[in-house]
Amino acid sequence: MTLLVQLSDLHIKAGRRLAYGRVDTAAFLEACVARVVARHPDADAVVITGDLVDHGTPQDYALLRELLQPLLREHPRRPVYLLPGNHDERRALREAFPEHPHLQSGGSFIQYEAAVGPLRLLALDTVVPGEGGGSLCAERLAWLSERLAASDWPAVLLMHHPPFDTGIGHMDRLGLQGARAFEAVVSSHPQVQAILCGHLHRTIHTRVGRTPASTCPSPAHQVALDLRAGGPDCYVMEPPGYQLHRWDGRRLVTHTALVDDFAGPFPFREAGRLIDG
Ligand SMILES: [Fe+2]
Ligand SMILES: [Fe+2]
Repeated sequence: MTLLVQLSDLHIKAGRRLAYGRVDTAAFLEACVARVVARHPDADAVVITGDLVDHGTPQDYALLRELLQPLLREHPRRPVYLLPGNHDERRALREAFPEHPHLQSGGSFIQYEAAVGPLRLLALDTVVPGEGGGSLCAERLAWLSERLAASDWPAVLLMHHPPFDTGIGHMDRLGLQGARAFEAVVSSHPQVQAILCGHLHRTIHTRVGRTPASTCPSPAHQVALDLRAGGPDCYVMEPPGYQLHRWDGRRLVTHTALVDDFAGPFPFREAGRLIDG
């Protein structure tokens, strides 16, 4: 069994400033990290699928480093894989985490491969500097094709921008150039078990070709669920979350977990009998 924890869209701001004047993203990440440390000591890796910080400054990344420390301190041998999103800046990200060798590879793009147990993670860089939307250009797709052709081990693709429209119009307008070409690559490699994305700040599932694809909630603010044509671009303070992806040797099963505390757990049974009434 192999267990991945996925966080996404942290939007950390230097000085713990509030995102949009309201959202304490630093406090939300602290709560999420504490929950992951406490609840998932058996996880094999943590992946964070972009929008790590809000403005891409060295000061933003310095605070991000500090806030992620408990993950590394409590489980020093468990890798944490970082991906850039449209709010990130590649150079500042690389400089802030010099001990993450995978961030330094990939030339002008932060694309890398990592083995987690029997799974191969392939991290893709969808960033177009200065733009909200993303792209997988010919160079990035050629890297993916080459990596997939090199091995038919079960692979999980990680990327910030999802390669599909969601129906949330203002987010779809910040979509992914090259999504069709990406789908063609994925469709010819059935070893790809899942495409795990961020950017949408909520849980969404679909398929790309025949491959499952999903987006992960944020530990802070979520994008409002509004499928009306021309709906405004808004966020909501729905419960913060993250995802767990469990590979059992045959399939990847995804759970969405919430960070907040709720009543329970309560037993269904007492002295072997169902509690009824
Ligand atoms: Fe985001
Ligand atoms: Fe984003």
